[in-house]
Amino acid sequence: MERLNTLFTFSIIYPAVLLQAFSLRSYASPLDQKTSSAFFIFGDSTVDPGNNNYIQTTPENVAATKPYGQNGFFGGPTGRFSDGRVITDFIAEYAKLPLIPPYLQPSAEFTNGANFASGGAGILSETNQGATVIDLQTQLKYFEEVQKTLSEKLGDEKAKELISEAVYFFSIGSNDYMGGYLGNPKMRELHPPEEYVGMVIGNLTNSIQTLYGKGARKFGFLSLSPLGCLPAFRAMKLEMTKEEGCFEEASALALGHNSALSSVLTSLEHLLKGFKYTNSNFYNWLSDRIQNPSEFGFKEGVNACCGTGPFGGIYTCGGTKEIKQFELCDNAEDYIWWDSFHPTERIHEQFAKALWSAPLSLVAPFNLENLFFDKDKLTIADVEDDPEKALCYN
Ligand SMILES: *[C@@H]1O[C@H](CO)[C@@H](O)[C@H](O)[C@H]1NC(C)=O
Repeated sequence: MERLNTLFTFSIIYPAVLLQAFSLRSYASPLDQKTSSAFFIFGDSTVDPGNNNYIQTTPENVAATKPYGQNGFFGGPTGRFSDGRVITDFIAEYAKLPLIPPYLQPSAEFTNGANFASGGAGILSETNQGATVIDLQTQLKYFEEVQKTLSEKLGDEKAKELISEAVYFFSIGSNDYMGGYLGNPKMRELHPPEEYVGMVIGNLTNSIQTLYGKGARKFGFLSLSPLGCLPAFRAMKLEMTKEEGCFEEASALALGHNSALSSVLTSLEHLLKGFKYTNSNFYNWLSDRIQNPSEFGFKEGVNACCGTGPFGGIYTCGGTKEIKQFELCDNAEDYIWWDSFHPTERIHEQFAKALWSAPLSLVAPFNLENLFFDKDKLTIADVEDDPEKALCYN
């Protein structure tokens, strides 16, 4: 476990130089072009669009140097932990919205929504404490600020309508299990795994209810991936046990989390009037691709494109961390994993597409298109009517 601790204790504070080493494209979002619901995003590095470029945090929580963003969509690194876009960028596009700006971007405009996500962030405030991240509680406080600004700008009535029509997307929780639990001996001593999952889900539930109380009605959730199959965990397992394979303890936590989240969402749907949501099975979807990359148009499901050591699992991509050297693959498009912890843009895009138009076999009880454009709930009949469609997402 020693290795785990070093990997997840990000305690070195690097100079602010990093924060200036990137350029951001400006996000145009004219008021009169609003065509669907606004989009608010809460999360961690899976969907951080560059918020961490504006805070003092550790190099592990910043993606502001090359080769991040190398595929050219943004013309360079933006702070996204990807070779290009992340899932929420694609969702915004399908929803006919402009890119949703990072909340901390100076003079950003929020009439189409805001992205509060922060690399390293957890649901619990204890997660990655010490390294500054914007935890979920703080992200909710920021949302309150946006809500106030919108009321001032649009008037109470219009703002209220925007808030209740908007989609609220969550992609958070992995850090609570990685740094927050597996890498935190004190937490593991205090709480057995099931109890810890209960705490994480309890706090996530509170956040959902808080937003509901502020008028939010439509929610989307990206469930947790098979965490133990991240190149970082494969490398760790190899070092600790001399065996290859996924680190099952981490994957088990992700499964426990996903199953608890599903139950909570089913009850909230009954408890909270007008509460609509989409939840996905990202765990199985990604496991299929890791096991059979070639069936899905990939060549490599195990090794990271950017990193060092076994499986590219030593987290060095970007050259700003303790070890400066890293290897980079020739064609990120062939890879599932971009760096030791994060998937490639291609995975983000494929999953965004799946969530957007999926039938019930992948999402429940709404897909994102239905949520954004207020269509009806999916039924089993949708799958039966269109077996081909069901097959592609199974
Ligand atoms: C939320 O997390 C804290 C630890 O940060 C824990 O003490 C508390 O019990 C959790 N709340 C719920 C409702 O589970």
